[in-house]
Amino acid sequence: QKILLINGPNLNLLGTREPQIYGSTTLNDVVKQAKIQAAELSIQVEAFQSNHEGAIVDKIQAARGEVDGIIINPGAFTHTSVAIRDALLGVGIPFVEIHVSNVHAREQWRRHSYLSDKAQAVICGLGVFGYTAAIEFAAKHMKVNAG
Ligand code: DQA
Repeated sequence: QKILLINGPNLNLLGTREPQIYGSTTLNDVVKQAKIQAAELSIQVEAFQSNHEGAIVDKIQAARGEVDGIIINPGAFTHTSVAIRDALLGVGIPFVEIHVSNVHAREQWRRHSYLSDKAQAVICGLGVFGYTAAIEFAAKHMKVNAG
């Protein structure tokens, strides 16, 4: 069972970026913890981060037939990207949308997501624990495409 963990723009700055909103854990820490958790659950987690919309689309397309599920924090592309939505729908891989912050408690425009209505689940406001929750969920409930 393989899960692809995608982090979008500015999430490479996690830990130092607006720590009052996003906390002080770095993306490196998140990925390290995800790998440890994956090993414990006997699954594989591949992590990918990009600041570029097209690179994220390419990664999603390449995942077709290769992974059982995608966990994606699209960053600001959540609120703008029809292309990422179309890529996820195009490959038909089930996905969980995650946000570190509670997007509903911030600016009004952060409340709209181009992905949420098609996501298997949406996690927000749990801080980086959201990634842990998403991986545990994925290990139990995302086992469709690949063998
Ligand atoms: C975010 C929330 C988005 O609104 C924001 O643009 C981000 C991070 C989060 O994890 O809380 O970059 O996805």
